[in-house]
Amino acid sequence: MPKIALLSPEVSRKIAAGEVIERPFSVVKELVENSLDAGASSVRVELAAGGKGVIRVRDDGCGMSREDALLAFERHSTSKIREEADLERIATMGFRGEALASIGAVSRLTLRTSEGGEGGVEIEREGDRLAAVRDAGLPRGTTVEVRDLFFNLPARLKFLKSDSSELSQSAKWLTSIACAFFEVAFSLSHGPRQLFSWPGVRTLKERLYQVYGKDLVDRLMKADYAEGGSRVFGFASRPPSGRSDKSQQFFYVNRRPVKDRIMQAALNQAFRPLLEKNQYAEAFLFLEHPLGEVDVNVHPAKAEVRFRDSQAVFRVVQRSIDKAVLDEGTVKVVPFGQPPETASPRAAVEDARPGQLIGDPYARPLASRGPAPAAEERPGVSQSGGIRVLGQYLDMYIVAASEDGIFVIDQHNAHEKVLFERYKEIGRDKLWPRKLALIPILFDLPPSDVLSLEENRDLLAASGFRVEEAGGRTYALKEYPDILRDEEAQNIFLSLLAEIKQEKLDGRQDKLLATLACKTAVKAGEPLSRPQMEHLVEELFQLPRPGLCPHGRPVLLRMDRGQIDKSLRRPSN
Ligand SMILES: Nc1ncnc2c1ncn2[C@@H]1O[C@H](COP(=O)(O)OP(=O)(O)O)[C@@H](O)[C@H]1O
Ligand SMILES: [Mg+2]
Repeated sequence: MPKIALLSPEVSRKIAAGEVIERPFSVVKELVENSLDAGASSVRVELAAGGKGVIRVRDDGCGMSREDALLAFERHSTSKIREEADLERIATMGFRGEALASIGAVSRLTLRTSEGGEGGVEIEREGDRLAAVRDAGLPRGTTVEVRDLFFNLPARLKFLKSDSSELSQSAKWLTSIACAFFEVAFSLSHGPRQLFSWPGVRTLKERLYQVYGKDLVDRLMKADYAEGGSRVFGFASRPPSGRSDKSQQFFYVNRRPVKDRIMQAALNQAFRPLLEKNQYAEAFLFLEHPLGEVDVNVHPAKAEVRFRDSQAVFRVVQRSIDKAVLDEGTVKVVPFGQPPETASPRAAVEDARPGQLIGDPYARPLASRGPAPAAEERPGVSQSGGIRVLGQYLDMYIVAASEDGIFVIDQHNAHEKVLFERYKEIGRDKLWPRKLALIPILFDLPPSDVLSLEENRDLLAASGFRVEEAGGRTYALKEYPDILRDEEAQNIFLSLLAEIKQEKLDGRQDKLLATLACKTAVKAGEPLSRPQMEHLVEELFQLPRPGLCPHGRPVLLRMDRGQIDKSLRRPSN
């Protein structure tokens, strides 16, 4: 007797159905996608027993004729593609023509649909069997009611979870699709309880507001960036706000919610220097990508996509965040606006506060460490009527004020910013004051760092580090920048080495200087004298964009005079 036999059509249909329809949520997803493809402006979802009892999806979309409605339950029947080439340009949510067939195969189902006017049809199915077809007078749109899901597939039934767990999957997905189709009204009820009802709105921001509330919207910055035929737009956390997990990162490709590792990696990489360790961004990022460059036909549930050029996708996502951070500064940061390369520092300051600050940031030789030079060296600055230091708060922040408002300045970020700009200047002129190690500092390097050292030897030398081989993997640090204390030189050198190897070649010099600035800047928790603070504030405000540190973190908070007056209900003058 042969061991192989063809399965009956009934069994093979059930197997196929199981690929698309795994649980109630899959039905909700497929039906709602159909409603959106039908151009609905309102989609109402009603569930009972988490969807295990009843799933009803009602839309006001284009509806179907009697003939189409009957055909829609055949496998591979679709109005969305016609030929193979269409697979390269899928603009609809569905295209596989298997959802209705699959749902029909594993449930009891009623479809009511009408293209408007007087017509309309009602179709009842039970498993694979057509149970009834009737004419019905219905308004334009379609309602699909699915009862007793998996009634004929007990194996699947056993794997369903509790009502609340099944419900929460549907609710979660509906929330994410509602963000993509913000112009569509969505509602979800469970039994007698309405869980949400969001009317259609004009913008994503309004939808986020409806769904998540004001607190979330206030924490977000806008992203919008286009490059090479792709565009990324949406919202992401405004640093330093973040959360301790990645659960609020939503990605969409041509409006389809997707789980995509490339987009996620790009987002998290862009945010790494902006957030505290173990903090992640919240994000709602929409990629508009040429249809021919993305394959959505990877997975029956269409939850994953594949990009032809994933590098390009990575880049555009990452840059969208970089740009958003730059555009934003932070909300409350002084809007100096000019990019550092073109702006004259002096002019930028004068724009904001005419003629209030004086002094040349580079006139002074490199300080031995910290913003310590005495105030006497810089007469007239702090009293110039510009920005006056009021004091230090928590040994972390400098509080300062001008006519225009009050500033809270992060001392570490501010100093880092000042040093970075100064190091850049020095780096350009190759004038690093360096000192000779009296006793060469010996250290061993792991193989991966040996390579990095060889590759970056010139760059390191230009920044004041001279290193020589001392046999095997042992090296000797012979010279280092004189801003470094002897005891910290080795550690800083090693961390520079580790950091720059991760950077692309053309970004390495800046990365090195930024790290050096970070390592040599005053830390949070160090008490500063008044002259030190005054000096730092003065130098900071001579820079073109005092609002952002080299790592993109915000440097200062500004509370405008007008804002203060308004909050305290005092008429401003
Ligand atoms: N809510 C709806 N409104 C209008 N037409 C629908 C609706 N649901 C399904 N259809 C029609 O039935 C066809 C089959 O649906 P489906 O099995 O989900 O396959 P697909 O969405 O992949 O085309 C669709 O192509 C569409 O023409
Ligand atoms: Mg479909």
